Amino acid sequence: FSSQAPGKERTLIVVKPDGVQRRLVGRIIQRFEQRGFKMVGLKMLQVSEDLLSNHYRQLRMKPFYSDLVQYMTSGPVVVMAWEGHQVIQSSRNMVGQTNPAEAQAGTVRGDFSLHVSRNVVHASDSPEGALRELQLWFRGQELLDWECIDESITC
Ligand code: PPS
Repeated sequence: FSSQAPGKERTLIVVKPDGVQRRLVGRIIQRFEQRGFKMVGLKMLQVSEDLLSNHYRQLRMKPFYSDLVQYMTSGPVVVMAWEGHQVIQSSRNMVGQTNPAEAQAGTVRGDFSLHVSRNVVHASDSPEGALRELQLWFRGQELLDWECIDESITC
């Protein structure tokens, strides 16, 4: 988890249950691959309330917290770790504003969602947040360092 060297920055992206249920996973992955980021972790899971209360620990007192937990546990999520130059900030831009009504067209939320309580995707918001969330959602050995086999493929 310690590698945040230039070009090696990593972030956590979660396709929330509505994104999985609406078959948006492939299109979301495609956007990150197309941008040039490297997938270094991927799994599908049914998230526990324990993990959520840690992940969203700053929101526990918010009026929407119980709705948020109900939403996030309504089905499996797809969790991804992406690596690349300034991937944390770029991902936030690609995902768009938290409230889809404010999200630009061309962003995931701007293109695929209408309501803040069904906003399809989560992206870490800072280097500290990314490190904390990657450690929370992935075991160390689930994140893979890989390189292209040789110069005969575009990489
Ligand atoms: S806040 O209130 O400023 O701390 O919230 P914000 O940073 O905008 O959002 C934090 C996460 O809470 C989700 N959220 C909601 N979920 C359900 N219902 C409502 N009304 C709601 N408002 C905010 C929001 O999507 C953020 O989740 P992530 O997973 O980080 O995108």
